[in-house]
Amino acid sequence: MHVEIQHVTKAYPSSSGHVIQALEDISLSIGENEFICLLGPSGCGKSTLLKLIAGIESSSSGSVKVEGMPVTGPSPERGFIFQEYALFPWLNVRDNISFGLDMTGLNTKTKRSIVNEYISILGLEKAAKLYPKQLSGGMRQRVAIARALCLNPRLLLLDEPFAALDAILRQKLQEEMTRIWLRENKSFILVTHDVEEAIYLADRIIVMTPGPGRIKEILPISLARPRVRTEAGFIQFRSRILRLLQADEPEAVDMPPLACTASERRMPLLHEIYSCH
Ligand SMILES: Nc1ncnc2c1ncn2[C@@H]1O[C@H](COP(=O)(O)OP(=O)(O)O)[C@@H](O)[C@H]1O
Ligand SMILES: [Mg+2]
Repeated sequence: MHVEIQHVTKAYPSSSGHVIQALEDISLSIGENEFICLLGPSGCGKSTLLKLIAGIESSSSGSVKVEGMPVTGPSPERGFIFQEYALFPWLNVRDNISFGLDMTGLNTKTKRSIVNEYISILGLEKAAKLYPKQLSGGMRQRVAIARALCLNPRLLLLDEPFAALDAILRQKLQEEMTRIWLRENKSFILVTHDVEEAIYLADRIIVMTPGPGRIKEILPISLARPRVRTEAGFIQFRSRILRLLQADEPEAVDMPPLACTASERRMPLLHEIYSCH
């Protein structure tokens, strides 16, 4: 799915009446079946950029187009996994995964087979009847990924999906993510602040500057998959990106405080988004 971002800025009003400039003059073109990682320090506007593409925030200026059409709201073609949209605690794993599908009008048999397919791809067979509170963090993320994928979006947006997981599990899910992306013929845009994660996953890494977020550099990662973290080429990319990020560090001290709940309260609920098609 082709995404075209042109001269996008985003400013949020803050509770003290000031303006928080989250993004400044972002231009970026994302191609069919590309795996893009947005990488940058906390507060640099990564989630904001992802939300603009998802259509759950709108830009202050500039344009975000998907397949040539301006983004005006969420669409089932653009699946997303944001921290704010966690699993429904009152639904078990199977029902969480099938939640969006239930609104598509597909017949029960087809829905069941799609859900079964993703339960199996994500290794959730034994957890199908469990509730979110009975699952580990890694299992919950798998459910969120399955729920997004079973709607067959052409673009999948993932906001730090593995950030809360321990290192070993994170690597395992990164491997699974690569496998799923190779299998699915979709564009993935994944936000991370983990340099290795970005090098492991991405076709191109978009390195962002601390707030206001701008694109500092776009790095094509030419390494063959599956990638090996200890290989010379991998390590060279890591050193190069760390140098890029470290060059920005003094500015990071002046970053505005994180999080303002005012607009979070305005965010549409998950079921509203799923039911919008
Ligand atoms: N809803 C909001 N209201 C006000 N400010 C916000 C909101 N969301 C994000 N910001 C601010 O915008 C900047 C970028 O935030 P964000 O996109 O969450 O960055 P990142 O995901 O890179 O950590 C930060 O300064 C943050 O405090
Ligand atoms: Mg974020």
